[in-house]
Amino acid sequence: MAVGANLLRLASLIVVARGLQLDPAFVLSQSTLGLSAAGKAACLGGWIKVTASANNTKLLVKSPTGQPDLTQTTVDMATAGVNYAATVNGGPNHVSGTYRLYVKLCEPVDPDAALKVQTLQFLNHGGTLDHTYWDLAPGYSYVDAAAAAGYATFNYDRLGYGLSDHPDPNQVVQAALQREIAHQIIGVLRKSTVGGKRIKNVVGVGHSAGSALTMAIAAKYPADFDALILTGISTSVEGVVIAQIAFNLIPAALDPSGRFDGLDKGYLTQGAVVQDFQFPFYRYPDFDSTIFRKQFDTRQTTVFGELLTFNSVVAPQPAYTAPVDVVLGQQDYIFCQANCSYPKDQAQTFVNALFPASRSKSTFLQPNSGHLIAQHYTAGKGFAHSLEFLKSNSL
Ligand SMILES: *[C@@H]1O[C@H](CO)[C@@H](O)[C@H](O)[C@H]1NC(C)=O
Ligand SMILES: *[C@@H]1O[C@H](CO)[C@@H](O)[C@H](O)[C@H]1NC(C)=O
Repeated sequence: MAVGANLLRLASLIVVARGLQLDPAFVLSQSTLGLSAAGKAACLGGWIKVTASANNTKLLVKSPTGQPDLTQTTVDMATAGVNYAATVNGGPNHVSGTYRLYVKLCEPVDPDAALKVQTLQFLNHGGTLDHTYWDLAPGYSYVDAAAAAGYATFNYDRLGYGLSDHPDPNQVVQAALQREIAHQIIGVLRKSTVGGKRIKNVVGVGHSAGSALTMAIAAKYPADFDALILTGISTSVEGVVIAQIAFNLIPAALDPSGRFDGLDKGYLTQGAVVQDFQFPFYRYPDFDSTIFRKQFDTRQTTVFGELLTFNSVVAPQPAYTAPVDVVLGQQDYIFCQANCSYPKDQAQTFVNALFPASRSKSTFLQPNSGHLIAQHYTAGKGFAHSLEFLKSNSL
């Protein structure tokens, strides 16, 4: 890029930084300005501190001492006649604390488009991933697609992921606390301004575990979101246990890359061979091997605290009336055992079962895609579908 163009970019980023006025409750530290993968969005990143408390579950589990212990736990979870989550539920457990979280706010790089932004999309990543799932590379970035369509996005690493704090992975990093943290952030975002105006709408957008959390927020705080886009989730859970075995989870601290050295062994990640990542997440040959490699090399962690508590916060919401969109990769293994048309369309089944009163239901089975819909060749089709869903609902 020519020097002149670079300077122009920088100038527009500074305007963006001024335009993104965060409520004073947000003190963004070590903030940096940058562009999204394909440069459609200008982004302000940094760390915030959130104080939150929640009624978590006392989990009767300990971090594994090593691989044999963890492998046996995987067997216990997949044992016939056992409801593992119920056997380790030790009752309520109140937790509270102040946590440091990495966040990124993006808006259209075009200043005219930035001035017109009315809707912010609150993005929530899945397990063993982080905020980069939404902005991995040019052509594989929902952040870019949303900005090009006139939306701002808020993206973050949930507690226990990526650049955010990693407290006790069993008792603290659980669904209930994640929900309270997100609710507080959404409250602040609703008081913040983009391009000098208050944000009018906030849409909850999730992938996989992030969809479960988005639903949990909507269930307890229905006013937080004006619409939901839930991806990589369904009521067909036969594939979940098989996928969990396929993950071949290891204590992340033992990963040969050394990226997770020193983490509590309760932080887990997929094994270091690519099959452990491909089987649950990808549909071969419908992805670019460099994209696969990038996502594999930057993969993050997951924790029993979340894995065992998301079920307890996800339930049908018969009173929820806001628009809901559901997108699944047609060959998602985790949530459809690789066939989201079996026995019938699982996206439709899901939205009808969980949000019967939604005034505007929309679904899409993204062709030629496994679980990570944003990382297959057809990613753009899924993005376009969800953005069209928002436009058609005047959001
Ligand atoms: C936790 O439970 C107590 C007692 O039921 C309740 O008063 C409190 O509001 C709950 N806290 C949260 C954050 O939901
Ligand atoms: C998926 O299931 C549907 C419905 O049973 C069936 O018609 C279709 O052939 C299956 N697809 C594949 C690829 O097996």
